[in-house]
Amino acid sequence: MTLPLSAEALARQAPDGLFIETVTSVTHYTDRLFRFRATRPASFRFRSGEFAMIGLLADGKPLYRAYSIASPAWAEELEFFSIKVPDGPLTSRLQMIRPGDGLLMRKKATGTLVLDALTPGRRLYMFSTGTGIAPFASLIRDPETYEKFDDVILTHTCRAVAELQYGFDIVAEALADPLVGEVARGKLRHYASVTREDYARRGRITDLMGSGRLCADLGVPPLDPAVDRGMICGSLAMLKDTRGLLLAAGFTEGANAAPGAFVTERAFAE
Ligand code: A2P
Repeated sequence: MTLPLSAEALARQAPDGLFIETVTSVTHYTDRLFRFRATRPASFRFRSGEFAMIGLLADGKPLYRAYSIASPAWAEELEFFSIKVPDGPLTSRLQMIRPGDGLLMRKKATGTLVLDALTPGRRLYMFSTGTGIAPFASLIRDPETYEKFDDVILTHTCRAVAELQYGFDIVAEALADPLVGEVARGKLRHYASVTREDYARRGRITDLMGSGRLCADLGVPPLDPAVDRGMICGSLAMLKDTRGLLLAAGFTEGANAAPGAFVTERAFAE
């Protein structure tokens, strides 16, 4: 197995035309989840919510996966939130990175979980499961989110309680942030649930939506395409079922070229 290399060694061995960045911090949450930050190339531009292709050299060749950028567009560093898959081609190696190690990144970011892909609305729902919270970690720290919406609701559902911790951390960071903290304190709400352990709130987000419990808990009217907007990020099964509920409620799906009432993107990795 190829181990992560120092940024200097990676710069010597990597092909041209890529960004080679330096890991600045790594936090392990569980044996399945970790968060890390890296330097940001001066010329790298992205919109909050987009993803980039990042990776390492594996047996001398670049190996990439799509990762949502979890830091906002204005941030000096790039943040990512990753699963660890024991046999995963990239994450089995990436989980070993430490500060000072090098990270490869392709030069362009892209994605549909961007504010530009939504038509104007009053309340923004960000529905996430697992590492699907990453693009929303970016968006809840972007002032534009609060300029465009009066009410911002971040839902996060995981199998286990410990897997919710990153969400609590990024919400706390957004609320304490000098740039967005004040406005976020008035508009941002975090709605966490767990499916496979005891917890104050249990259940899949689709069940909590379908039963009416989500809106009841939040004290808001039922989902309404006239005023509500949605962004969804999770597994393919979660996307399919959550999308189905929004379509049934009359929401139209948007894209960069044709904004709509909701947008979706798969939570990547392996
Ligand atoms: P569950 O434990 O009932 O499968 P995963 O790690 O498999 O991506 O799951 C992350 C979270 O997403 C889990 O809480 C899981 O619930 C939930 N989930 C899985 N499939 C769906 C689905 N089709 N719709 C809504 N939530 C889902």
